Amino acid sequence: MATRSRYAGKVVIVTGGGRGIGAGIVRAFVESGAQVVICDKDELGGQALEQELPGTVFLLCDVTQEEDVRTLISETVRRFGSLDCVVNNAGYHPPPQWPEETSTQGFRQLLELNLLGTYTLTKGAVTAMTKALALDESQYGVRVNCISPGNIWTPLWEELAASTPDPKATVREGTMAQPLGRMGQPAEVGAAAVFLASEASFCTGIELLVTGGAELGYGCKARWSVPLEAPVTPF
Ligand SMILES: NC(=O)c1ccc[n+]([C@@H]2O[C@H](COP(=O)([O-])OP(=O)(O)OC[C@H]3O[C@@H](n4cnc5c(N)ncnc54)[C@H](O)[C@@H]3O)[C@@H](O)[C@H]2O)c1
Repeated sequence: MATRSRYAGKVVIVTGGGRGIGAGIVRAFVESGAQVVICDKDELGGQALEQELPGTVFLLCDVTQEEDVRTLISETVRRFGSLDCVVNNAGYHPPPQWPEETSTQGFRQLLELNLLGTYTLTKGAVTAMTKALALDESQYGVRVNCISPGNIWTPLWEELAASTPDPKATVREGTMAQPLGRMGQPAEVGAAAVFLASEASFCTGIELLVTGGAELGYGCKARWSVPLEAPVTPF
């Protein structure tokens, strides 16, 4: 459902909106008639999208920097007079790493970006935080929901695959993780975000899975490096 009246006149900030899932969310909100502020710490990507989508505004902002975020909000309200929806999409998924290889400093930085900013290994914490915030903010009529994307084909996915010994095999494995036999598109996460912001007016504190069913049923769960045990017949 892409009609320009769906979220018309509303003001939306999308963090990490310069590329990947964020750019998909920006496009979906533009399609719905909203006024969109693209926030990104990457100037080139943000500016390119702003030029491609007339009516959008790009504001340079690193969501781990409190002062940047304050300016982002005040500048949005100064320009448009209100703020109806914030999509906290900016985040990062590090290459696979064992816990013992992760430094405290590295983990702290990831938490700052993915949890205070939003998302992923921190995903469990995000859903818990979504519920807590939904309770706290309901008194102001504010709804708080989260989207948990599965494998979505973005520049980040491509970069992570390229850093593995066999990128083609990694992409194939990622593709086969979904019963639907494909990865998702940023536009499909965008559609979910617009739905939560517009029609889902009685939803708060929920987690919307946009995963192509990756979590369903049986699949290859052990890593290739795990020594496999033959089944033992108990009779
Ligand atoms: N792609 C997937 O399969 C997938 C799956 C689950 C979760 N996610 C999460 O979704 C989010 C977006 O993923 P993506 O694949 O589109 O990534 P991406 O790297 O392609 O795009 C992320 C965008 O966020 C921006 N960004 C990063 N840190 C920022 C910061 N501190 N302040 C402002 N902007 C910042 C980047 O500049 C970039 O434009 C990430 O948090 C990722 O972990 C992605």
